[in-house]
Amino acid sequence: MNTDSLFKPFSLKTLNTKNRIVMAPMTRSFSPDGVPTDAVAEYYAKRAAGEVGLILSEGTVINRPSSSADPNIPHFYGDQALAGWQKVINDVHAAGAQMGPQIWHQGIMENHTSGWTPSTPFEGPSALQRPGFENGVPMTDAAIADTIAAFGQAAADAKALGFDTVEIHGAHQYLIDQFFWDATNNRTDIYGGKTLAERTRFAVEVIKETRKRVGEDFALIIRLSQFKPAAYDFKLAKNESEMEQWLTPLVDAGIDILHCSQRRFWEPEFEGSDLNFAGWAKKITGKATISVGSVGLDGDFFGAFAGQSSQPSSLDELVRRMDRGDFDLIAVGRPLLSDANWVEKIKNNRTDELKGFSKEALAELV
Ligand SMILES: Cc1cc2nc3c(=O)[nH]c(=O)nc-3n(C[C@H](O)[C@H](O)[C@H](O)COP(=O)(O)O)c2cc1C
Repeated sequence: MNTDSLFKPFSLKTLNTKNRIVMAPMTRSFSPDGVPTDAVAEYYAKRAAGEVGLILSEGTVINRPSSSADPNIPHFYGDQALAGWQKVINDVHAAGAQMGPQIWHQGIMENHTSGWTPSTPFEGPSALQRPGFENGVPMTDAAIADTIAAFGQAAADAKALGFDTVEIHGAHQYLIDQFFWDATNNRTDIYGGKTLAERTRFAVEVIKETRKRVGEDFALIIRLSQFKPAAYDFKLAKNESEMEQWLTPLVDAGIDILHCSQRRFWEPEFEGSDLNFAGWAKKITGKATISVGSVGLDGDFFGAFAGQSSQPSSLDELVRRMDRGDFDLIAVGRPLLSDANWVEKIKNNRTDELKGFSKEALAELV
């Protein structure tokens, strides 16, 4: 198999990656009290040494009292946590990759299984985590303003630490996506509205503030998903025109790269074309896009959360889409959890050495 298109360099503002392969952001919950340990730095540096071009960190939460529902998710604020991240980026750079943190506010959540709760109630556009389930408070104007400022501060800190990019987590039914989704955003102020375009207001303000804090020349990514974990087959944008109404304000606010989260990258987004989400996002906005979803594995990540294993699968369809120019970068998740050298093995055609994915890989940081 000729995988040359995966190994072409990519440049955009502060990004200069040696290949097109991105490590997908994956929550690991190995940062006690929110502080990334040396083991976390070693984990990322191993993927960098294994020839990943761009690493996106696990979601790391901004400075709001209820931004996290899990005490072991890393913070992206506070001296100790930022010192941990400083080691991460230094080690990743030394091992030859670029990296950005995925900055995150989880919004309204279910309580953690351990019983741990943050010091203040969860906050979101409404109290709803999903239809029929409330677990927090609707955000006041002051809470919204402070949250926007906290996203900006996290991005400024990432730049100051030497990270190469920042990804804003706008996907998967967390805070920003709770604003996009009409099932969780029932606000009647400027942050709500009947149309998806109106409900982009919060994300737009986050992006504008972030852009202001990092400057024009710094690459900014946003991650988006049509699906919600509470509604796997849901589509926020039901057709091309709705997708344009959703993405255009985000791009106009200052986004450089759209990271389009899908369970399976080969699935068409709309009828009548085989383009996937990243393909449509690039076609509509002209911006660079990252695709993702079951690359190199025969089962998807929802199955993985349910304990299912996956076996290695062919990269032919990925290469076909990359060659066609559908998207610019491809993110890979679970294969890189099981095997820090996955990229290097693909590059050197050592496909017989590829491993499958099993849930045991989630239990340890290796
Ligand atoms: C253990 C695990 C943790 C994840 N955590 C995050 C996260 O923090 N942020 C995010 O945007 N996506 C997260 N995801 C989704 C992945 O980034 C990726 O989109 C998904 O696993 C599909 O890619 P894959 O099929 O290559 O694994 C997570 C996935 C897994 C398996």
